[in-house]
Amino acid sequence: MNKRKIVIGNWKMNPVTKKEAQKLYNSLLKGDTNTKKTEVVACPPFVYFSYFKSSKRINLGAQDVFWNESGAFTGEVSPTMLEDLGVKYIILGHSERRALGESNADVNKKLKASLVAGLVPILCVGESERNENHEYLNLVKNQIEECLTGVAKSSLAKIVIAYEPVWAIGKNAVRSATAEEHREMSIFIKKVLSDKFGALNIKDTRIIYGGSAHPENIDEFITIGGADGFLVGRDSLDPKKFLEIIKLCEISKN
Ligand code: PGA
Repeated sequence: MNKRKIVIGNWKMNPVTKKEAQKLYNSLLKGDTNTKKTEVVACPPFVYFSYFKSSKRINLGAQDVFWNESGAFTGEVSPTMLEDLGVKYIILGHSERRALGESNADVNKKLKASLVAGLVPILCVGESERNENHEYLNLVKNQIEECLTGVAKSSLAKIVIAYEPVWAIGKNAVRSATAEEHREMSIFIKKVLSDKFGALNIKDTRIIYGGSAHPENIDEFITIGGADGFLVGRDSLDPKKFLEIIKLCEISKN
């Protein structure tokens, strides 16, 4: 059976006012796109959570979290605090956070604390560049192994892995990955996961694509690339495009 697709909107540090954030969230709520076969997640900045509620149609996700439950950690927010506000998903290890110094060991601590609080981790992995030696495969393997150290086999069905090649992200992206490149990486990630956790424990783990995902390339990522969903940056701020991405996942036969 096909896994339920998942489409996650990473709003990053946008929009700048509460009013605009509410407008964006409302257009997603009101859109006439079906979400029967697709889980939809919106990840606004922390400050907007109290204005939104997770619903059957849209789930709330956060873009980062700290690993401790409470205490003297100025500026940090804990998984339990997020869960208490109705947050269900958590993006971890995004390349923009790694660029600020986040290590695989940090991501690992955040991921384990998030699981304890009942959040669904969306673990981002991906290389900054590719060369002929295929070094990028080792880098992704290392990210997965270190970020998932000490995680119970039984948690794997819940975790979403987002393959996001850094060179494909954002407005300065060279290009998106190709569907074939995603397919190759998705197979590789499954191999790394099954070596670590056993094939049976990873059969429900979703491997999704992120990095210049747009309505124009969604279908090929699903049909050729075998993507179980998408982590969407820029197009998540445009309700028309984001709803179109959801619709393409809904109507896909794969
Ligand atoms: P993009 O961002 O869709 O704007 O390339 C993706 C991401 O950073 O998750």
